[in-house]
Amino acid sequence: MTDNAMPVKASPLACVILAAGQGTRMKSSRPKVLHPIASFPMIHHVVKACEALTPQKVVIVIAPDMDAVQAAVAPHVCALQRQPLGTGDAVKAAGQALSGFDGHVLVLFGDTPLITPESLIALRERLMQDQAAIAVAGFVPADPTAYGRLVIDDKGALLEIVEAADASSQQKAITLCNGGIMLFEATALWALLDQIGNVNAKGEYYLTDCIALANKQGLRVTTAMIDADDVRGVNTRVQLAEVEAVMQRRLREAHMLAGVTMIDPATVFLAADTVLGRDVSIGPNVVFATGVVIEDSVEIRAFSHLDQVTVEKGAIIGPFVRLRPTSVIGEAAHIGNFVEIKNTKIAKGAKVNHLSYIGDASVGEKTNIGAGTITCNYDGFSKAHTEIGAGAFIGSNTALVAPITVGDGAIVAAGSTITQDIPANALAIAREKQTNTEGWAGRFRALQKTKS
Ligand code: UD1
Ligand code: MG
Repeated sequence: MTDNAMPVKASPLACVILAAGQGTRMKSSRPKVLHPIASFPMIHHVVKACEALTPQKVVIVIAPDMDAVQAAVAPHVCALQRQPLGTGDAVKAAGQALSGFDGHVLVLFGDTPLITPESLIALRERLMQDQAAIAVAGFVPADPTAYGRLVIDDKGALLEIVEAADASSQQKAITLCNGGIMLFEATALWALLDQIGNVNAKGEYYLTDCIALANKQGLRVTTAMIDADDVRGVNTRVQLAEVEAVMQRRLREAHMLAGVTMIDPATVFLAADTVLGRDVSIGPNVVFATGVVIEDSVEIRAFSHLDQVTVEKGAIIGPFVRLRPTSVIGEAAHIGNFVEIKNTKIAKGAKVNHLSYIGDASVGEKTNIGAGTITCNYDGFSKAHTEIGAGAFIGSNTALVAPITVGDGAIVAAGSTITQDIPANALAIAREKQTNTEGWAGRFRALQKTKS
């Protein structure tokens, strides 16, 4: 951007995400764009990046039998490409869904989930500043082998894109490549697509052929440089893991810059929707599945796994805790070593510190759940609820056979198997009464000695 550049008013925007490719190298029965990155389908990240630009329409181009992709991108519309005849043909398939649309059409790939709104905005600004009909995202990959090369003249103008399979050895030496994201003036796009052919090494209709055709017609074409990570594509499971690693690094850094401490960030695995408050501290080897909200000043200790749970401020979780859907851990509660919590509300200040399973339950404020307490919530057919009041004390190694209610302030003796409701402030003991036989141990030892 030059210093004296005037801001240009943006035209309406539509996005076309290509996802009809077969993804054969994934060796999977699942469409490639549904493989997860940060716990969400790959294509979800591309759609989110588009949505940040508030487009009028987002159209996803899919192949037949991709109903699952359609469901994953709803409420956005899908267009069907019947046969994989190339990227140019795929964009054409979106034409009907965009009929009457006049503005900018952004074309992206569903298998490049690291694209950011910032890069898309920069591409759009480049098109507007240069008053161009097409802007191409260019990048310099570590290994350019598989990419289309950008052929630039000595004034820096983009003349054409040559696909790797069609490039001469001289063109193969070009390191500036096509990132695969292109922005078009709608009218120019549809006119150019009608003119591209498929006489090339792959016999495909290349979207990239639009560039040479545009130049021939005197349309202005421009290039914006894009971060190589932003256009990392997924073709194999090896690349899936590489892209996941970049996404995790980005998520961790964003959380740390927003006030979260991670002792060993490389071992913390986040979902794209993980919400972490300020002064949250996370130990090593912690995994966040989807739907996790952690409020301020929570400490999550090592080796914990959290899934669809809200942890309120100041609580301490772990080490070795599994929090399962859908649970709420109250303010300043402690959930400790080797504890599993499922579909349970733990109120403020309550403690479940050791070796327990609490499922389908509600635990009142400041209640203490002793080591080894189990809610027996399942009889092999259905799940039942356990209601524990406030200020109660559940002794160690208690089995609570649901459905059951423990009143406020009640005390359960250690080792009890509770099968009846306990009134508030009562003591419940449900175990065999102890008998002591005086001198028995001595007599037993003496008897054993006579045998040896
Ligand atoms: C494409 C570009 C290349 C660029 C590279 C960047 C073309 C012709 N080439 O090559 O210049 O450097 O991306 O990664 O555009 N798709 C369809 N229908 C089809 C074919 C493809 O929907 O008929 C979709 C695929 O699902 C994928 C995307 O388009 O999401 C790109 O297709 P792919 O075959 O990977 O193109 P490349 O050969 O990588
Ligand atoms: Mg590709």
